[in-house]
Amino acid sequence: MSKRYGHFDDAAREYVITDPATPWPWINYLGCEDFFSLVSNTAGGYCFCRDAKFRRILRYRYNGVPMDAGGRYFYLREEDGTVWNPGWKPCKTTLDAYECRHGMGYTRIRGERQGLQAEVLFFVPPGRRCEIHKLTLTNKGNAARDFRLFSFVEWCLWNAATDMENFQRNLSTGEVEIEGSTLYHKTEYRERRDHYAFYGVNAAVDGFDTDRESFLGLYNGFDAPQNVLAGQAGNSVAHGWSPVASHFFRIHLAPGERRTLIFVLGYVENPADHKFAPDGSIDKTRAHGLLADFDSEAKVDAAFSELKRRWNSLLDRFQVESGCAELDRMVDIWNQYQCMVTFNMSRSASFFESGIGRGMGFRDSNQDLVGFVHLIPERARQRILDIAATQFADGSCYHQYQPLTRQGNDGIGSGFGDDPLWLLFGTVAYLKETGDFGILDEPVPFDNAPGTEVPLLEHLRVSFRHVAQHLGPHGLPLIGRADWNDCLNLNCFSHDPDESFQTTENKTGDSQAESLMIAGLFVYTGREYASLLRHLKLDAGPVLQAVAAMEQAIRTSGWDGEWFLRAYDYQGGKVGSHENAEGQIFIESQGWCTMARIGAEDGLCDRALDSAKRLLDSDYGLVLNQPAYTCYHPELGEISSYPEGYKENAGIFCHNNPWIIIGEALAGRTDDAWEHYCKISPAFVDDQQLHKVEPYVYCQMVAGKDAFRPGEGKNSWLTGTAAWNWHTVTEFLLGIRPCFDGLRIEPHLPARFRTVKVHRVFRDAVYDLTLHLDGQGGSTFIPYSPGHHTLEIVL
Ligand code: GLC
Ligand code: GLC
Repeated sequence: MSKRYGHFDDAAREYVITDPATPWPWINYLGCEDFFSLVSNTAGGYCFCRDAKFRRILRYRYNGVPMDAGGRYFYLREEDGTVWNPGWKPCKTTLDAYECRHGMGYTRIRGERQGLQAEVLFFVPPGRRCEIHKLTLTNKGNAARDFRLFSFVEWCLWNAATDMENFQRNLSTGEVEIEGSTLYHKTEYRERRDHYAFYGVNAAVDGFDTDRESFLGLYNGFDAPQNVLAGQAGNSVAHGWSPVASHFFRIHLAPGERRTLIFVLGYVENPADHKFAPDGSIDKTRAHGLLADFDSEAKVDAAFSELKRRWNSLLDRFQVESGCAELDRMVDIWNQYQCMVTFNMSRSASFFESGIGRGMGFRDSNQDLVGFVHLIPERARQRILDIAATQFADGSCYHQYQPLTRQGNDGIGSGFGDDPLWLLFGTVAYLKETGDFGILDEPVPFDNAPGTEVPLLEHLRVSFRHVAQHLGPHGLPLIGRADWNDCLNLNCFSHDPDESFQTTENKTGDSQAESLMIAGLFVYTGREYASLLRHLKLDAGPVLQAVAAMEQAIRTSGWDGEWFLRAYDYQGGKVGSHENAEGQIFIESQGWCTMARIGAEDGLCDRALDSAKRLLDSDYGLVLNQPAYTCYHPELGEISSYPEGYKENAGIFCHNNPWIIIGEALAGRTDDAWEHYCKISPAFVDDQQLHKVEPYVYCQMVAGKDAFRPGEGKNSWLTGTAAWNWHTVTEFLLGIRPCFDGLRIEPHLPARFRTVKVHRVFRDAVYDLTLHLDGQGGSTFIPYSPGHHTLEIVL
């Protein structure tokens, strides 16, 4: 086992980081409604209200030097001139003790130096638009301590994109106000903005700074602010340049004395007719209210207890005791938590997503649903209706939509062949969890056009029909711009480095490009759709016929001899065949075709799974394709733009490993399913230094066996991996699978699992299940009925 930087504290539902110099910033998220923060284990990061691009509150420099510079910093300056921070950064003064605890919606960072301890609790109170920084200073020594304290945050000029580029304007617009201990940021408030931010503290300050250059010194970094070094605030007032907020205190602590200061970093929107006070300054009524609500330890502690209560009641909806600590902590705590964060953030803001890029993905959002529908069914319902409303009348879809407007996003356009099927996938998952069949009658427009509303069920029909009617020469689905694999661009042929593979011309005219991944997805979701229709007492015949025809097409034209082909290209050539020089086998079609059990009776699934294991597996999971592409293929697109072993070119995409795991489970190959799962689950990560990213959440991608450093993780937090692992582990490994009428219990766990206890809230019922397993498999069905059910099940 290599060097470790932290460990789980399951009882507290926390991850404890004990060395601040983690191999990459290990972050957490604060906030659940519309005020969100990213906070690293050294207090780096930023916050925003609703939209990470347009309402960015703190400035952050992505990919900066040093890494993770900027955040909420507290500087302690001792009498002898030593300056340190409780979170180690930015000064990096050696601490005698350091600990960061990332919990559910909060982070607690504690540093200690020569008997002086500084602990900061960061959280966003439920329903409020602010971060609380509760700073507790304790003199643990025998002598009195005199020191100086500085807080520090740097404001972003609201639009996180222009903040990084339009300097000819930006450097002249910054404006602040100072009122007592509260420092206000009001850039552009004089004109069209009706919002401002502030940083206040519940005690009288001995000074402040609001101008960055005055505080830091033009040529100093965050690690050496000139005013901190001098031990004196400058009382600077920002006019243009870069507004910041820093409070200054002279502090005396007797031996054993403890002092708590509560800082509130808030955001306020004012009604248009209440923007200004009579003297032309900001109307601060709302800020005063927020500050008053958190001006004492008791008030802050009450809000914090409420936050904990909310998270506990969410997570308690699904709890397992399996005898395997790694499995339990992912299911009980971290995977559910990551699914909630992914719901809140979609793909907008992480330390790999800059918050200024993508909208909400049609396919991503549908898949994310399966991770949180059991936690927040009402919000899942709204999400489905929002997504469906961006669909076109012919069943095709915008690939993305904007969360603020809920309108389809023209920038990326449409034409991804898999998109419509994900609406079926997400909606069926929602129905199975909730039994809320009424949603199918909800009127939902096409492309958000008033007057075009049809029942949601009709959206499902056109989704299925769209794919069924867009088949290529082999009767397999046309791939369009791409399928799930954004980078398999078979109709693009790009030679211009200045164009994006996502938006360049998509040559569909004569294209013969077909996808076996979509074919498998079609069969799988088509059967689900048919069972929904039967449940509704509607005719499922035509759907089942289309599914049967697709199965036949896969068997006839989609089997390569030892595995499923991946695709046919523009000219009708094979992709993912032993006949290819590179890219002979791909994971996606093995996953979906084995999930759909295509050709199982003739051994095709077992052979495909064996091939995946033999050719794609590695110490850190299954890679996406093999052999990796070693040069650029215009006829394949972005996939071949990545160096070998990274991302879609033979990286370990943790998002699609679950498809093989489900395929293995359904094939009864339980040990293989479990082995594949353990390789990608962060709780089993052994070499934290190599893995690099947070060991408590799934990451999108781990470098594959062809990479320079196989096993290195990237793109943590916001990934479909979270939902897919939740779905796979709970429904296929633990085997607690919601159905339209109840729960199917069908665990696929290795023989060493003997007794597994599951507590699950399901609709208006609570199930306490004790599963007694004998390693032989087995299945049973529990019809749904409201109430509390305690059941012993022998399988
Ligand atoms: C990213 C995208 C997702 C896509 C996947 C594979 O995770 O968000 O939509 O399916 O990459 O390319
Ligand atoms: C790139 C990435 C892919 C992602 C897409 C959309 O193609 O490789 O993973 O889905 O961008 O942002």
